[in-house]
Order: sequence, then structure tokens, then C-alpha cells
Amino acid sequence: MTSAYEELLWASEDEPVSRRTFLSGALLGGAGLLAGLHSKEAVANALAGRRPSQVQGIGVPKGLVRLAFNENPVGASPKAIEAVMAHQDWMNRYDYTTTLQKALIRFHKLDIPRPSGFDFKAVGDQHGLILGVGTTELLQLLALEAFMGHGETIEALPSYGQITRVGDELREAGYPVLARRVPVTPDGNHDLEAMRQLITDRTGLIIICNPHNPTGSLLPHQDVIDFIDQVPPHVLVTVDEIYIHFVRDPAYQDFMELAKERENVLVLRTFSKAHGLGGMRVGYGVGHHKIIKRLAPFSMGLLGRNNLSVHAAAAAVDDTDHIQRSQQVVWEGNDYLSKELQKLGASVLPSHANFLWVDFGRETRRIVRELWTKKVMVRAGAGAWESPNHIRVSTGSKAENEAFIWTLDQILA
Ligand SMILES: Cc1ncc(COP(=O)(O)O)c(C=O)c1O
Repeated sequence: MTSAYEELLWASEDEPVSRRTFLSGALLGGAGLLAGLHSKEAVANALAGRRPSQVQGIGVPKGLVRLAFNENPVGASPKAIEAVMAHQDWMNRYDYTTTLQKALIRFHKLDIPRPSGFDFKAVGDQHGLILGVGTTELLQLLALEAFMGHGETIEALPSYGQITRVGDELREAGYPVLARRVPVTPDGNHDLEAMRQLITDRTGLIIICNPHNPTGSLLPHQDVIDFIDQVPPHVLVTVDEIYIHFVRDPAYQDFMELAKERENVLVLRTFSKAHGLGGMRVGYGVGHHKIIKRLAPFSMGLLGRNNLSVHAAAAAVDDTDHIQRSQQVVWEGNDYLSKELQKLGASVLPSHANFLWVDFGRETRRIVRELWTKKVMVRAGAGAWESPNHIRVSTGSKAENEAFIWTLDQILA
């Protein structure tokens, strides 16, 4: 299984691009961008065709339908591409700018007066901001701080699982730590009451992923507030809301404001999803300055900051056109995929994210293997997610979604 998966990943590397082609492509792309052509052409290409071989996804070789990593099928924010091109000569320099910190402080109205270019975090009297190599780095340091400082964590099952992975590996290496996992409810949501009951004096961290990966479920805002009100102050509650842009209800309130007010709440955000910058690796956390200072020693620090990524992310922060385009493609894709998957006999949870959690009522390993061999990549629910009857399929472009359904239909037939 792993080898078929790796083969597909390798297949995405077999398109060497010469420096000359790259440069002329970049220039053409830039000219196209300025004329508004880049995204139109790319999106039109991505929308054509319905069999895997006919599909040209953005950022992958033709014929590969990559729906396994919750990536943005629309591509990167055009403003980010423009910023990368404008700063391409800066590659020889370390990033000592405050560009990204300032953009985030402005965007989230954080009370942080003087960010420093010589730091990867920024703190004020109340608020704090920390940058990471994606939110994955931030999850890594949250896990390390919780296990080293306290000993235990609580995470849902299934979930993204970074905290549990670190905990299990530390335990295997002989450290006296415990990563507790709490099965989600049948509607795919965190079982907050069961999580609360597992809190001990040693609990350092509870992670709430909302919307949740891999189920796509969303918790009622007030339920999370009530839960946090009952959590003792020694426990840090981290709300990983990296899929928040795909929530359809415009009245849904995220947890950014709460993170600014409470001393034990941290919110995680990323540029990898709605902004389309997964490959640039930029995430951030917002919370009380004391939390940020507690996490900082575990981070790789300033030189985890990537010069081009910083400018791409800063330009993408408020690219609402691109975010809205991405939302539209994802919402339409989710409607289409849910309908077609149900026609094929599967049940699908309502999704508030850019993927669907699909229950086939029987083992899916073989279905997933067959999909991979036909160059359609999705994630099996077996393994760490302990959900052998499920698959998680990321929402693609119209053509990618159609190619996935077409291929799945062939396999099931
Ligand atoms: C719930 C969740 N958290 C964090 C991440 C990490 O994202 P990144 O490191 O790209 O910010 C992912 C990636 O898919 C995820 O699903």
C-alpha cells in the first residue's frame, strides 16, 4: 500500500523544469497575472475533462487526481504569486522583515505594538502571535510543551493526530507521557463531555479541531465556550481552525476573539488551505502572550521563516477574491460529491471543510488501493484513524471531482 502511494508521489516529481522554461513560464505567468489571465486559464484547464487521464490539476502533472491532502484546487492566491515574483531576487537573504507579523497584527486587530524582525513571535501586554512552518510546526511545539511540562494530552479519534503521534513516539522512547484519544460522536464531532472527564492534574493540552479533520464536522460555538469554561486553568485548549474559511454559515463565530481574551486558549490558522499556499509552509497561532512565551523555546525559531513564503502569506492575508473563489469551488464540489457518493450507496457527513468523510459500510482499503492504481489519490480511514469503512476525499476542481466519481463508479461496478 505504501509503495503504491509513494509511486504516485514520485510520479508527481517526474517533470523536470529547466531554468529557462521556469523563468519564461514565470514571466508569462506574471504577465498573465497582471492581465488577469493566469487564474482564468488555469482554472479553465482544471475544469476540463472527467477521466483521470484528461484532468490537469493545478500544481500536479496531467492525469494525476490528487485528493488526499486537503489542498486548494484553485491554486495559490494570485496576490501571493505576484509577491513571490516581486521578491525573487531576495532569495539570498534571511528574512529579517516584520512584513508578515505586521500584516497579521493588522488583519486580526491584535494589540501588539512593536513586532521585531529578529523574532518569529510578537507579544504585547495581552496578545501574542507566533509564526510556524505551517501549523504542523506549531502542533509539534504544543505537543512538546505539553508532554515535557505536564505529561498528558487529549485529542479526538480520528483526528489530524500530530499530538498523539508525538506522544506515542515519546512514550515508546521511554518518556512517561500519555496521549489520550477520545472517539468522536456519530455525527463526527468531538465528544466534549468525554474529553472533559479525562482531564487530570497532568493534562497540559486539549486539542479541538473545528471544523474537524477528517470528519468535516463543526461544533456549535456555545458548546465550545461551555466546555472551555469547565476546563481547569492549567490546561491549554488549542482550537485548530485551519479549515474555518470553508464554514458555510456566515453567522458562525470563530474562536479568534476568545483566544485574545482568555489565558488558556490558543487559536491556530494556516495559509495552506483557503489561501492555497500549502507548499509555502506558513501557519500561525494567536493567544495570550504567556502562552506564546511558553511555546517559543520549543520552536526552531527565526530561521524557520522563509523569505518568499513570508511575502506570499502577507500578500494573501486579505485576498478576499481568491478566498471567495476557493470557497465557491469547495462548496459546489462538496454538494456534487455528496450527491454522487450517496447515489453510489455511501453515506457522507455534512462537511464544513474542503473534504468529505465517506462511510461505505464495508472495508475501504481495496477501493482506495484501486483508486490509487488509477491515479486517483484519496485517504483510507484504516490505520491511525481506526475507521476501516471510511475514506476521506479532498474537494477538488469540478474535473477532479468528476474524475474521482467516474473512477469510483468503475471500481464499485
Ligand atoms: C487539522 C489540521 N491541522 C493542521 C494541519 C497542518 O497544516 P499546515 O502545516 O499546512 O498548516 C492540517 C493539514 O492538513 C490539518 O488537517
